[in-house]
Amino acid sequence: MKNLIILFAAIGSLMLCGGCSDNQLLRNDLKRALDVAVEHEKAQAEYMLDREGELPKTFEKGELVTANIRWWTSGFFPGSLWLLYEHTGDGQLREYAEHFTSRLESLKDYRGTHDLGFMVFCSYGNGYRLTGNEAYKEIINEASASLATRFNPTVGAIRSWNTGRKENPELDYIVIIDNMMNLEMLEWSGYSDIARRHADTTLKNHFREDNSSYHVVTYNELTGEVTDKRTAQGLADESAWARGQVWGLYGYTMMYRVTGEKRYLDQAVKIADYVIPRLPEDAIPNWDFDAEQQMKDSSAGSIMASALIELYGLTDNELYLTTAERQLRSLCSEAYLAPVGENGNFVLRHGTGHLPAGTEVDVPLTYGDYYFIEAAMRYLAL
Ligand code: GLY
Repeated sequence: MKNLIILFAAIGSLMLCGGCSDNQLLRNDLKRALDVAVEHEKAQAEYMLDREGELPKTFEKGELVTANIRWWTSGFFPGSLWLLYEHTGDGQLREYAEHFTSRLESLKDYRGTHDLGFMVFCSYGNGYRLTGNEAYKEIINEASASLATRFNPTVGAIRSWNTGRKENPELDYIVIIDNMMNLEMLEWSGYSDIARRHADTTLKNHFREDNSSYHVVTYNELTGEVTDKRTAQGLADESAWARGQVWGLYGYTMMYRVTGEKRYLDQAVKIADYVIPRLPEDAIPNWDFDAEQQMKDSSAGSIMASALIELYGLTDNELYLTTAERQLRSLCSEAYLAPVGENGNFVLRHGTGHLPAGTEVDVPLTYGDYYFIEAAMRYLAL
């Protein structure tokens, strides 16, 4: 029945919009995609209610796969519910958002991961922004204090993974490009020195001459010297893993927004100018920009679209907006957007988590959905 309603709404808006511009059509498509997202997320919430301590991760072999709250993706589902509550004002979405956010409270004291920004700021951060709930603010600040314990001033960065390479487990201090995404929460809580040192160290050591980035940089924990640069989820050490490139793009764009420091904007522009010419026809990145093997990563497409809309707002460069529009057009087409009731009630199809390991290949990903919803809302707010 819900699918029928959405289909009729789609036909109706097409009929009403005979003379619409491409932008208006995209806006209509995005509104419809967000309606679809609401139905997906509500269905997922119902399914998850009696699965205490778990959050949705992906959908494989006909099964919705969940993860423990300590897995790096735990904040995206509550975050999506908050964003859709913001979009619709629907009280049921708010109730679900509050419920699934509360599952993450114990993360405030968890010092075992660098991903606390993803986990706590997407959930509690959006919750605080939309409700002003003071208890949420305390939890965010405690989580930032926990994350700050992972900062090493000699290295000038937050530790990503807890163990080093096999050959040097004691002294290896590993930092991955993804870690840029955790800095917004630190800035918000006043750990600005740490966030900026991390962003500066990453800017110095993670990027190649052509402005593509390494996935993993290893430092000597005692001296801060760089001892190794390589990949974990990409094709090769010298290749450009797509999601890593767009974590960097989003991360430096966000760091410029929150600090006003021009060097971060310059870096975001350099990354954008590296990735945009390498996009394929439908503007959704292949899993690695250097790979011949074709496997889309829709999550990289949605992270990039969201970052480019923000970067357009900061630079007025139309190319960033038109590229995001191409990506959003693809993502809300039937090639990527799943009908309600399919896809484990994740919104997007065709994400790639870790192709070299053979895990989460051509599947929906909870973070792909979160950044798609954010990108659609950013576009509609323009
Ligand atoms: N942060 C892990 C990933 O992007 O897959």
